[in-house]
Amino acid sequence: MGQWGLIRFMGCISLFVLLLPEACKAGVQYVGTIYPGCQGSQMTWINLNGLFLISNSSNFAFGFSTTQDATQFMLVVVHTGSSKVIWSANRGSPVSSSDKFIFGEDGKVSLQKGDAVVWTADTGGKRVSAVEMQDSGNLVLLGNGGSVLWQSFRHPTDTLISNQDFVDGMKLVSDPNPNKLTHILEIKSGYMILSADFQTPQPYWSIQKESRMIINKDGGKVAVASLSGNSWRFYDGNKVFLSQFIFSDSSDANGTWIAVLGNDGFISFYNLDDGGSDSQTKIPSDPCSRPEPCDAHYVCSGNNVCQCPLGLSNRPNCQTEVVSSCDGSTELVSAGDRLNYFALGFVPPSSRTDLEGCKSACHDNCSCLAFFFQSSSGNCFLFSDIGSFQNSHAGSSFVAYIKVSSDGGSGSNAGGDGSGKKSFPIVVIIVIGTLIVICGLLYMAFRYHRKKKKMLESPHYISEDDNFLEILSGMPIRFSYRDLQTATNNFSVKLGQGGFGSVYQGALPDGTQLAVKKLEGIGAKDDCFSTRRSLLVCISTLPFLFGFHEMEDLSAKALQSDTNTYMLIKEEVRKVVSKGKAAGVLRLVFHDAGTFEMDGNSGGMNGSIVYELERPENSGLKKSLKAYMIAVAGAEAVSVCGGPTIPVQLGRLDSLEPDAEGQLPQESLDAPGLKQSFKRKGLSTQELVALSGAHTLGSKGFGSPFVFDNSYYKILLEKPWKSSGGMSSMVGLPSDHALVEDDECLRWIKKYADNQNMFFDDFKKAYIKLVNSGARWKSL
Ligand code: HEM
Ligand SMILES: *[C@@H]1O[C@H](CO)[C@@H](O)[C@H](O)[C@H]1NC(C)=O
Ligand SMILES: *[C@@H]1O[C@H](CO)[C@@H](O)[C@H](O)[C@H]1NC(C)=O
Ligand SMILES: *[C@@H]1O[C@H](CO)[C@@H](O)[C@H](O)[C@H]1NC(C)=O
Repeated sequence: MGQWGLIRFMGCISLFVLLLPEACKAGVQYVGTIYPGCQGSQMTWINLNGLFLISNSSNFAFGFSTTQDATQFMLVVVHTGSSKVIWSANRGSPVSSSDKFIFGEDGKVSLQKGDAVVWTADTGGKRVSAVEMQDSGNLVLLGNGGSVLWQSFRHPTDTLISNQDFVDGMKLVSDPNPNKLTHILEIKSGYMILSADFQTPQPYWSIQKESRMIINKDGGKVAVASLSGNSWRFYDGNKVFLSQFIFSDSSDANGTWIAVLGNDGFISFYNLDDGGSDSQTKIPSDPCSRPEPCDAHYVCSGNNVCQCPLGLSNRPNCQTEVVSSCDGSTELVSAGDRLNYFALGFVPPSSRTDLEGCKSACHDNCSCLAFFFQSSSGNCFLFSDIGSFQNSHAGSSFVAYIKVSSDGGSGSNAGGDGSGKKSFPIVVIIVIGTLIVICGLLYMAFRYHRKKKKMLESPHYISEDDNFLEILSGMPIRFSYRDLQTATNNFSVKLGQGGFGSVYQGALPDGTQLAVKKLEGIGAKDDCFSTRRSLLVCISTLPFLFGFHEMEDLSAKALQSDTNTYMLIKEEVRKVVSKGKAAGVLRLVFHDAGTFEMDGNSGGMNGSIVYELERPENSGLKKSLKAYMIAVAGAEAVSVCGGPTIPVQLGRLDSLEPDAEGQLPQESLDAPGLKQSFKRKGLSTQELVALSGAHTLGSKGFGSPFVFDNSYYKILLEKPWKSSGGMSSMVGLPSDHALVEDDECLRWIKKYADNQNMFFDDFKKAYIKLVNSGARWKSL
């Protein structure tokens, strides 16, 4: 009995262990299915590009994908081969890299942004027991017993994929176009239609008016549409095949296709098997029959030529200046001849009347912005929103009138209502105002120029790196050795001591305090690099030089994830990181940043940090922003010199947490010492070797100073410093030499010398790890 009890008990345990679903782990990609207790952010799976669940066939993956600006993320289903996103959870409300996808033990599946839920699958309150990424591209949430509670195929965004049924009640919604207009595809009373999502939706395409349809059975009402090979097939409620639209020739007949409703108003078709290339065929066929091929009120003709219609041509920017209300005086002007409008073929007339009747209907109706009148039928169409007009070469049976503000605009069409007289004083005021503003700007420019000139005259900035450093506010400015000697009174007041050297107090001619770190004991004093290498100016003591106030603005914005600001910074970084500056910039990433953190602990830079901390406005975050710009700049430096493209993850600032407080390795360390030092930063021996490859840039004698390649390893293997005398003895730092003497390092050196791609790959990964491992940056 006791024995049986034990066996039963063990049975229970092992069953329990077997069934216990595994919680999600950082860096692990799951195949097919995940179970409750799984959560993580883009950061958690950063090494997998955020994709944590992949389908059995690996054709589709579920996870985080970056938005166009690379700073924010969406939770998506993506086709891995073509990188096409076929479904997304949080369109319109992207999250940061630390925001979490949560598949809780409670069986709820959601995406959070901070504490708010930005997306959750509506399972009608039922507990989800598994999330499956299926080979079809369908993301399925299963309940107990394998019932389907929710599936992405039933909640499409702007994309349909082969074998996904689009049924009555579902909608595709495009991303908004630049004027914030979206487009909608839906099945309405037996027809599939496309419309512009104005306040009152305006249809612009309908299946029954599509001449390219191939009819199989006439007269049926569409209830289901499904992509199959190179055709889009339409069925009625009983799955009777009604018609099809063939969008590509039969050579692609077996492909997996997607149909995407774009923000341009087109439905376009892409072949996923062919890297996502698009077919030329689009819906609708005439580009001018879309709602806004041009901006509102412009006339579209031919292949998207946009012109302001005659009736508006003398108004600024072709605008009517009417806000849709009855406030202000308005008048109706003829928009021009031969104009057509996309919605006219799809909407019923508002009334049947004559031109005067139509005019007064629109005039007396606050929401009417334009009307079209057809004299042959007496049909009068009123519109409360208006997209682009179409030019009708054949002539139009419609006359088009558009409501304009009678105070705005200038001249000819505002006949005789006295606005000519009214505008006189306004013109004078505008002219005088403009003159004052111009004078003010000129004066400010003059002042700025003088100030800048003065600043440039006092300390000698070394010009080469200047504009870069100026633009990247937050980067150090370089001084000549003499300036610093003067500023610190020949290095007389020592503030502290730390790795690489001592810190001295000084002041610029204009009284600005600064701290200067003098690197000591590195190499011979009389070699040609000595001036440069022994100067490392503490950047943090010189807030004014970096425009701290701009910095504050910038960082505040970046912290709000202002993507425009981020793009701006990135663009600026791109523009200014030239090959000549690459080595210096890359070095900053590791050395200078590292130095500061280390000194924060060991006291060497305390001189600077004291000033820092006394400034109440100096929050740690601001510094991180600088670091982040440096990280971007370093990546750009590598790429500009022909190295790998390194995607620096920007949201990572959110997830900074103090970690290994290592010291920046001394250049005199031997291999075990270097390994130790890197280990404290969480970096492996392999990563030490890969990162040291950065010394291929710059003037240490590893191939061209401006080319990022694997010559560092090739030259290390030759050990040129062993040869006596000449330049070759100067190749490399002692730390570089030490690497070859270590067996473990040597193995990697040989691999990288043999295989540049492998080096690039490993460098990329190690660099991302380096810049992502927090504390170093935080205390910068
Ligand atoms: C393994 C430990 C390392 C030590 C001891 C070390 C030491 C040094 C020293 C002392 C210099 C100054 C050379 C000079 O200007 O004369 C230097 C230059 C440089 N370091 Fe490192 N470094 C290490 C790792 C790294 C890493 C991980 C990176 C980048 C990811 C890096 C990037 C650079 C670059 C690009 C230069 C050349 C700068 C130029 O020529 O303007 N170093 N390194
Ligand atoms: C993946 O493959 C396994 C084993 O063949 C199967 O049990 C599982 O159901 C598949 N998962 C999906 C989501 O297709
Ligand atoms: C498509 O697949 C069918 C059978 O699976 C095959 O007979 C046909 O040749 C294929 N067509 C093309 C163009 O590959
Ligand atoms: C006013 O105009 C809108 C369209 O702009 C139309 O839908 C509505 O019926 C009109 N109202 C009247 C009272 O005519």
